[in-house]
Amino acid sequence: MHLRTFDYSVMKELQYINKYFLKYRTKLLLGLLITIVARIFSLFAPRLIGNSLTAVEQYLQQTDGDVEQIRNILWVNILIIIGTTLVSGFLTFWMRQTIINVSRYIEFDLKNEIFWHYQRLTQRFYKNNRTGDLMNRISEDVGKVRMYVGPAFMYSVNTISLFVIVISYMISIAPELTLYTILPLPILSVTIYKLSRIINIKSTLVQEMLSKMSSFAQESFSGIAVIKSYNLQPKMNSNFDTLASQSYKKNMALVKVQAWFFPLMILLIGCSNLIVIYVGGNQYINSEIEIGVLAEFIIYVNMLTWPVAVVGWITSIVQQAEASQKRINDFLIEQPEIVDGPGVLQKVEGNLSFKNVSLCYPETEIQALNNINLEISKGTTIGVIGNIGSGKSTFLDLISRLYDPSEGKIELDGKDLKEYRLEELRSFIGYVPQNAFLFSESIEDNIRFGAVNAKEDEIIEATKKAAVHKNIIEFKEGYKTLLGERGVTLSGGQIQRVSIARVLIKDPTILLLDDCLSAVDTDTEEEILKHLKSVSKDKTTLIVSHRISSIKHADQIIVFENGKIVQQGKHVDLIGVKGYYKELSEKQQTDNSK
Ligand SMILES: Nc1ncnc2c1ncn2[C@@H]1O[C@H](COP(=O)(O)OP(=O)(O)OP(=O)(O)O)[C@@H](O)[C@H]1O
Ligand SMILES: [Mg+2]
Repeated sequence: MHLRTFDYSVMKELQYINKYFLKYRTKLLLGLLITIVARIFSLFAPRLIGNSLTAVEQYLQQTDGDVEQIRNILWVNILIIIGTTLVSGFLTFWMRQTIINVSRYIEFDLKNEIFWHYQRLTQRFYKNNRTGDLMNRISEDVGKVRMYVGPAFMYSVNTISLFVIVISYMISIAPELTLYTILPLPILSVTIYKLSRIINIKSTLVQEMLSKMSSFAQESFSGIAVIKSYNLQPKMNSNFDTLASQSYKKNMALVKVQAWFFPLMILLIGCSNLIVIYVGGNQYINSEIEIGVLAEFIIYVNMLTWPVAVVGWITSIVQQAEASQKRINDFLIEQPEIVDGPGVLQKVEGNLSFKNVSLCYPETEIQALNNINLEISKGTTIGVIGNIGSGKSTFLDLISRLYDPSEGKIELDGKDLKEYRLEELRSFIGYVPQNAFLFSESIEDNIRFGAVNAKEDEIIEATKKAAVHKNIIEFKEGYKTLLGERGVTLSGGQIQRVSIARVLIKDPTILLLDDCLSAVDTDTEEEILKHLKSVSKDKTTLIVSHRISSIKHADQIIVFENGKIVQQGKHVDLIGVKGYYKELSEKQQTDNSK
């Protein structure tokens, strides 16, 4: 029979974990030692049971035996059996405590390592991989690897030490009977291995179905408003039904195989027992062995079968862990393409200079920016406007190095952005992205992301400037109001304004505002712009907007079209020349006066 057991060259990916084994080597060695001692203690019971039987048999064969003496022997034996079993049980408890604990430490370390690594990776990585997949690797896959460092390791140590100790002892007292006893064990192990493989494959399918069902349910709940207003309930129901019945079938297939597991094990253990009783019984009848040895061996068979069965199970755990570690390693070797520069030890003033900057997104081959040349002096406000998809957000992303230009370079105070350390560069920049995101924390804590140590009055000052203070104090919990996932309890305009408060409290040198007044009415917009004007006096500010009203007071306005700057100048100049800006301005004016 072909058996792929412990082929260590197959465990290429799992070698990554070795550094953690090394880190916890003292605890693991202790676990190993405890296991060995526990197994030695577990040998006493069968030996003494055998001894007792032999003693009783000898007493029965004697005519002048002393009952008191035999009773004493039995009592002593019983006490030793109880004592050693207790010690062995206690040590087994500590074996779990040390080895399984280490596996939890390693799980903790590995999860942290992956999370840290994820955080270093760039936007591109997050665009190319699904969030569910990232989550799975840090939870499910790490869990499978933990099974390898914990239970698989522990049972391997246990099985090996039991084997070496018990079998060498068995050979020393009855070599031939030992051979018969261990003969069926490999068959047991192979069978369990095959069965575990099938169970694993089937349970992977069940898992996949489960995650399909939960993503379907999750998406339906998030989109419940759309589903209801388009009367899609019956269609969604039948789609869910189909998924559920597929899941049911996969589950049933799994349960059928699982049902074989224990009966098969009991059958095989039964066979081993029969062989020992038959062969050992014959040897006893021929006076080759004592009755005690026979009894002892029956106990050994039952002691050995479970660990042997476990070998099959361990093998399949190791294979699963290997597959999971491969998935983890795939992401761990992924290197961020945006890297730190050596660092620039100077205070920045905020002069930005774009030199022949182009950006082509490799995945879509979309030329988002095309040969941009622009000088932005410190302390000025730049308005950025242009059609949907004309490259405005991309333009801002380049400044905080969420992406690097594919051609050309951007300088901050005469130094290439790539010369700055990322953390350093980003500490100068305040960015409100187009789809502002708030965390599921209190409003106050969300604002504190801008400045961790901000005092209460500073927070209030920022929210007043962002014209959201009044809204916040209307909530029952005020600044302590908890926001649900994606800040669902706030309206779009409120989210935008809290995000503006968050950036204002950071007090950055360069302020990037990407369409963050789109959901705010014109009066509020005006109020915020007035405050922004006063705070942004010494800041380089870039405001992206679709509304002329947001940017018309800017020192310089640039108009994007298909990734190119097509118009540039002040409001008064631009409305005087034919082009996108003039048209848009006139259109928005007539819209407003309607
Ligand atoms: N991460 C990305 N990967 C691939 N293509 C992208 C990515 N982000 C943007 N694009 C593409 O680049 C072009 C410019 O997009 P960008 O988001 O900069 O436009 P925008 O001017 O901000 O548009 P809007 O006014 O709708 O916000 C678009 O065609 C868009 O599809
Ligand atoms: Mg945009």
